[in-house]
Amino acid sequence: MKTKIKNKIVVANWKMEPKTQDEALKIFNDTKKASKNLKNTKVVICPPNFYVNELKEGLGKSKKISFGVQDVFSEEEGAHTGEISIDMVKNLGVEYVIVGHSERRSLGEDDDTVSKKVNLVLNSKLNPILCVGEKERDEEGNFLLFILEQIKNSLQKVEKKHLKNLIIAYEPIWAIGKTAQDAMDSRGVHQMSLFIKKVLKDLFDEKIAEKTMILYGGSVELSNAEDLIKNGNIDGFLVGHESLDADKFCEILKIVDK
Ligand code: 13P
Repeated sequence: MKTKIKNKIVVANWKMEPKTQDEALKIFNDTKKASKNLKNTKVVICPPNFYVNELKEGLGKSKKISFGVQDVFSEEEGAHTGEISIDMVKNLGVEYVIVGHSERRSLGEDDDTVSKKVNLVLNSKLNPILCVGEKERDEEGNFLLFILEQIKNSLQKVEKKHLKNLIIAYEPIWAIGKTAQDAMDSRGVHQMSLFIKKVLKDLFDEKIAEKTMILYGGSVELSNAEDLIKNGNIDGFLVGHESLDADKFCEILKIVDK
């Protein structure tokens, strides 16, 4: 089951929230209502795995919302307590997998592991949302080299023909989990999206650079969404905390869809 990716995409990363299935259903139903009127925007909800089946049942025939998971294990099989395999993800019927989120990397995940995961996801014909982002900025611009290496290493074993399903989310770690005031401004986001496209062009070719969707994440809120989407040269967002507030998240969806 493959979704043709088009226009804009807004991914909700619910992280380790909400606490109950009922709350999850409520956020989901409110989001679903608002997503009915979207014309050019796809919504991807990445709840904790535990909630996926229940939420999927409530989806009905809506094509505006898809589901994703927040991670997958790097090995296809074996005894790995607490992990979830790519086959399980596929059988769950989700289409997207967040890979290499900084909150996973902070637990010890390195680029080689991220690369294995990206390959598993792409080979399964699902869409990896590859997260990259620097911890801090330095005046010499070494952070750019860091991003370049992250992308290069994460895509090192990927076959070019599979790249059409790749999405890259640029999430500077210093902007995550704060407020719109602390987020990157649209000018900065624009520069980074151009930089990432240039990296993709150098690694692969112009067509891949052009087609790969680039998202921004890191304190996207209702108050900065419009400027970021209008002026940031991006294809959408990866939204954390604001995606759990259905009213505000739905307003963000409308802004992106304009
Ligand atoms: P916040 O939107 O809460 O900053 O989270 C961003 C993020 O990590 C999404 O993956």
